[in-house]
Amino acid sequence: MLVRYKKNSEKIAMGLLSFMPQEKDIKKLRETILTYEINSNWHLFLWKKEEDFVGLIGVETSNEVCLVQHITVNPSHRGDGIGKQMVSKVQHFLPCTEIVAAQSTKPFLDKCLTKKEGTDA
Ligand SMILES: CC(C)(COP(=O)(O)OP(=O)(O)OC[C@H]1O[C@@H](n2cnc3c(N)ncnc32)[C@H](O)[C@@H]1OP(=O)(O)O)[C@@H](O)C(=O)NCCC(=O)NCCS
Repeated sequence: MLVRYKKNSEKIAMGLLSFMPQEKDIKKLRETILTYEINSNWHLFLWKKEEDFVGLIGVETSNEVCLVQHITVNPSHRGDGIGKQMVSKVQHFLPCTEIVAAQSTKPFLDKCLTKKEGTDA
């Protein structure tokens, strides 16, 4: 289930973000979380499985375009479709007509969006 990030999940969000190659440094992680907290067009969500948060997706919105800035899944839960579900479900929370990848999420997003067109359309 996709839920909006809340401040009381800051540590878990930072832990999930740290799986992204450019988010290894604690200072950068704090800056990234702050970016989501202070900018009304940056939206952070967590994937809740039973009682645990096991995935994260972060989106920057501009007009009706949703730019996926961050996407990560806990290594123990990879390959179960959580990444793809987060991309699909985040659109229900935000008024996006288009979902696009940032450079940092492009390899996975390209795969998700291509597969979606090929299989679901
Ligand atoms: C990318 C990530 C979020 C995928 O999460 P996931 O829940 O395992 O993804 P799903 O189960 O929905 O999809 C798995 C598919 O994505 C592919 N995939 C995983 N990581 C990928 C990547 N970095 N680039 C392209 N494809 C990727 C898998 O090979 C698999 O392919 P298949 O369906 O043909 O078998 C996860 O691997 C992760 O957290 N990686 C580290 C963080 C990161 O690098 N994020 C940016 C990715 S560009």
